[in-house]
Amino acid sequence: MAQYSRVLDAVALITLQNPPVNALSGRVRQGIVDTVQRALADPKVKSVVICGQNGVFCGGADIREFGSPMTGPPLVPMIHAIEAADKPVVAAIEGVALGGGLELALGCHYRIAQAKAKVGLPEVTLGLLPAAGGTQRLPRLTGLPAALDLITTGRHITAAEALELSIVDRLTDHSAVDAAVKFAVSVADQSLDARRISSRPCPCPPDLDALFEAAMRKVRHSSRGATAPVACVQALRAAATLPYSQGMQREKDLMATLFTSGQARALQYNFFAQRAVARWRLPGGARWDGSKPRPISKTAVIGLGTMGRGITVCLAQAGLSVVAVEVQEKPLKEAKQAISGMLRRGAKRRGVAPALDLITYSQNLRAVADVDLVVEAVFEDLDLKTQIFQQLSNICKPGALLCTNTSGLNVDLLASQSRRPELVVGMHFFAPAHVMKLLEVVYGSRSSPEAVATAMDLGKKMGKVGVAVGNCRGFVGNRMLKPYMEQGLFLLEEGATPESVDGTLEEFGFAMGLFRMSDLSGIDVGWKVRKGDGLVQPGAESRVRQGRRYSPLGDLLCERGRFGQKTGRGWYQYDKGHEARPDPWLHRFLEEYRARHGLVARRIDRQEVLERCLYSLINEGFRILEEGIAAGPEDIDVVYTFGYGWPKHRGGPMFYAGMVGLAKVLERLEHYQQTHPDVLYMQPCGLLRRLVASGSPPVHKWREIIKNTHSKI
Ligand code: NAI
Repeated sequence: MAQYSRVLDAVALITLQNPPVNALSGRVRQGIVDTVQRALADPKVKSVVICGQNGVFCGGADIREFGSPMTGPPLVPMIHAIEAADKPVVAAIEGVALGGGLELALGCHYRIAQAKAKVGLPEVTLGLLPAAGGTQRLPRLTGLPAALDLITTGRHITAAEALELSIVDRLTDHSAVDAAVKFAVSVADQSLDARRISSRPCPCPPDLDALFEAAMRKVRHSSRGATAPVACVQALRAAATLPYSQGMQREKDLMATLFTSGQARALQYNFFAQRAVARWRLPGGARWDGSKPRPISKTAVIGLGTMGRGITVCLAQAGLSVVAVEVQEKPLKEAKQAISGMLRRGAKRRGVAPALDLITYSQNLRAVADVDLVVEAVFEDLDLKTQIFQQLSNICKPGALLCTNTSGLNVDLLASQSRRPELVVGMHFFAPAHVMKLLEVVYGSRSSPEAVATAMDLGKKMGKVGVAVGNCRGFVGNRMLKPYMEQGLFLLEEGATPESVDGTLEEFGFAMGLFRMSDLSGIDVGWKVRKGDGLVQPGAESRVRQGRRYSPLGDLLCERGRFGQKTGRGWYQYDKGHEARPDPWLHRFLEEYRARHGLVARRIDRQEVLERCLYSLINEGFRILEEGIAAGPEDIDVVYTFGYGWPKHRGGPMFYAGMVGLAKVLERLEHYQQTHPDVLYMQPCGLLRRLVASGSPPVHKWREIIKNTHSKI
């Protein structure tokens, strides 16, 4: 809806009303068309102000309407009518003007913004482009380089930056509506010719081709196969080279292609998945969100290694006080320096003061006695963690939450060491903890809903995407990684190289192929786990262990001191910094290994690499759903897109399985199971079979089938 009122008699005030962000639904668009017409027809009205209710101008298109037939007037002619008006129309921007909201503001003759407002054209993040003239009007205002940056990244900018880029005309520290009304009165009789952005030429630098070639190279490199950023560049090229009306046609055509593409569907699915995951549920659909989080103000982190440092930074940046404990003096000193550095850099980027004062350091575990919540991040060693949990249970005040950052140890076992198992949950951060968005909140069999709610709420405060998952070996993310990694090793044995496997995965869209990722997180991490499982036999090369196919390649590398980036050698070599270079030593090592085992290297095509790596990972995802470790496919997909570099434009592993076709995934798994009968992971999961037997329903219907499965159990 849009409300019409009159201020100071000569100004019509149009207020968009569609909580929470005044999105441009069909009813809102109809309201704008009607009220603008009314204002223009009224001879007493000399100028018009458009604003949004509750301090928010407009959050853009109403994505709840995506996928349903359009109702109400289309956006483009509506904005054209505003721009063509013979009375000045002023946008009063408070809160946000995003997407269609900013495009609406660009159709107005003037824009006045409240200093705290943010503007942006984030369509690209949903696999689309700003298709209500955004790609044609913005460059006419800001010039091409700024428009390319804003439209291809979708980033939101502050009102101050918007003023610098001429996107808004004035800022106010007070009410943008009051300022806009006053301003509207002052410009009532002025000519509007120069104010209609579409009639201005697009300012072009002399070497247009070079500018667009560079922009195209940049987006192709960073978008990892996503088509929307490329289409954005094409639309901006049209703005620079074609008359406005033809540019608009190009924008429309490009949008039509994007709109029906699988990528836009995947990105929009991922957007909604993120929201669904925040309203966490128990497997089977029961909601836990009735339980209120506990207030947390004082926290502690135990163990200031790689992870503990990042977690301390996250907590302090969220405004919580932190007692940071490290037993030994030298690592404590190093940690202090590292944490202060991270906080300073973060604060500089965000233009705030570093939260150094919120942290107190200690070598004594007793210092955590009065905190509300502890995150334990000591070595991944069950005995050590057990001991810490026993101590914490004695030291911490009653009611304090005890959280562990373990990558995969049994949360129930740790909980049983404390006298408050209901207050023990996993808070599994990802490295680097102050950068990575994902947080797996692991509930054990005795964790109280309140404890889970508190950890989820804390995650939100730290700007994380929290996903509540059940307790099992490796939880969701690392558990699915195991078969994926193992397939990578088998492929090397059969003739592939780390470069060929990684190249294929990166071309698919992964931020990093599996061998580069393994080098980054440390090949020794898995080695230690396998040692604990009794799988590693030093010096031995047998390729069957505990009755199953096994590749000792990772163990052999670790025995040679090749742990990955940290030792400068792993699956690749690293001479300078983080750049992975193919290593002739490794290629020779693989050839000799194959020769010793009588393996004949064969050419493995891209398709096989993808199918074996991805489908084994996906198959494990189905097992996780079947066991109720993840509540739904959305949870798994959010874990993978936010924590493991799975390309968002492919939705996530479970969504991708649906896109490929569940029957096809099943058929290929059956095929690989026949060729590799000793690989358990390739045995298709019962849930996948059931889904195929039920006609392969779309991903949002899977929960029903999973629920039925659980209720039968
Ligand atoms: P790290 O080896 O870098 O740090 C562990 C720290 O704990 C060391 O600084 C050590 O001095 C300290 N420590 C040991 N005993 C202690 C005690 N009794 N009291 C206080 N401090 C003590 O290990 P990292 O990589 O930070 O891992 C920590 C935990 O986080 C492990 O459980 C690991 O599995 C998990 N994790 C690690 C990830 C990674 O990528 N490194 C990712 C996610 C979780």
